[in-house]
Amino acid sequence: MVWLIGNKGMLGQEVEKLFKRKRLSYLSSDKEVDITDYPTLQEFTKNIELAWIINCSGYTEVDKAEKEIEKAFLINRDGVRNISKIATEKQAKLIHLSTDYVFNGKKDTHLSYTEDDKTEPINLYGESKLAGEKEIKETFKKYFILRTAWLYGRGGKNFVSTMLKLFKEKEEIKVVSDQWGSPTYTVDLAEVILKMINNDSDKFGIYHFTNEGVTNWYEFACTIYDKAKRLGLIEDNKKVKIQPIKTEDYPTAARRPRYSVLSKEKIKREFNLEIRNWEDALTDFLSFLSLRTK
Ligand SMILES: NC(=O)c1ccc[n+]([C@@H]2O[C@H](COP(=O)([O-])OP(=O)(O)OC[C@H]3O[C@@H](n4cnc5c(N)ncnc54)[C@H](OP(=O)(O)O)[C@@H]3O)[C@@H](O)[C@H]2O)c1
Repeated sequence: MVWLIGNKGMLGQEVEKLFKRKRLSYLSSDKEVDITDYPTLQEFTKNIELAWIINCSGYTEVDKAEKEIEKAFLINRDGVRNISKIATEKQAKLIHLSTDYVFNGKKDTHLSYTEDDKTEPINLYGESKLAGEKEIKETFKKYFILRTAWLYGRGGKNFVSTMLKLFKEKEEIKVVSDQWGSPTYTVDLAEVILKMINNDSDKFGIYHFTNEGVTNWYEFACTIYDKAKRLGLIEDNKKVKIQPIKTEDYPTAARRPRYSVLSKEKIKREFNLEIRNWEDALTDFLSFLSLRTK
C-alpha cells in the first residue's frame, strides 16, 4: 500500500491521477489528516501496512513564510519529522519533495547544483524545507528527497496560470529577467515518482529533478505567450507587451536565488531516465488547456 500525502495540492493531484490510471493500491490524504499532529497520523495508518509514503504536502507560500515563520516550520519541519517517524514505524520507504530554494543561487551560471552541493537558503521557506530534509536524514535511511523547482501544472496556483490570467487582463506586464532556473511540469515529476515506486528502488538519498533546459522568468513568460497565442488560448486581437525588469525593480518579501539550476545527472543515471525539455513539456500543458477550452 502507498500513502499519498497532500493529494489536493498541485503536484499531489497529478500524482493521484497517475496512481488511479495505473490502478495502484494507495490511500491519500491532505489537510484533514494534519501532518503536524502525530497521533492523527498514527490513527490514520493504524492496521495498515505501508510500503511507500509519498509526501507532496507542505507549506509553499514563499513570501508569506517570511512572516508566518512558525507555521512554515511547523509544517515543513515538524510535520515532516512526524511523517518520518511513521515511515520508520511502518518500515516504509519515503519520497519527500523539496526545493531548489535550499541553495543560495550564487553558483556560476554555466554550472548546475548537484545533490552534494552546500545548502544555504536565502529565505525562510527555503530554511524550513531544509530543516525538513534534516529531520528525515536524522530519523531513518530509507528516504528519497526529491528536490524540484519552478513547478506548474493543472489545479494549482503557478507561474504559467498567473501569466495566462495576466495576458487576458493586461496590455503590458513586467517580468524579472535576471533569475534563472528550470521549469518543471507536474505530469513529468509524477511519472518519476511512480517509476521510483515501481522499481521498488532502494537507491536512497537526495535527488534533483526538473525539466531539461535553463531559462529566466522573462523568457519563460514570452514562451508561454507565444505558445498560448498559437494554441488559441489568447484571442487573436489581444496583444500584450512583456518587458524584462531586474529583481530590484520587483521587490518581494522573500529573496529568491539568482541562479538555481539543478543537475539531473544522478537521477538520470540511477533511474535510467530521459527528461524532456521544459519547452516541450510546456507545449503539452498548454495543449491540454486549449483542448479543455474547446
Ligand atoms: N510549487 C513549486 O514551484 C515548488 C517548487 C519546488 C518544490 N516544491 C515542493 O513540491 C511539493 C508540492 O508542491 P505544490 O506546489 O504541489 O504544493 P501545494 O499545491 O501548496 O500543495 C500542498 C498541499 O499540502 C497541504 N497541506 C498544508 N498543510 C498541511 C498539513 N498540516 N497537513 C496535511 N496537508 C497539508 C495543502 O493544503 P492547503 O492548500 O489547504 O494549505 C496543499 O493541499 C512541496 O513540498 C513543495 O515544497 C514546489
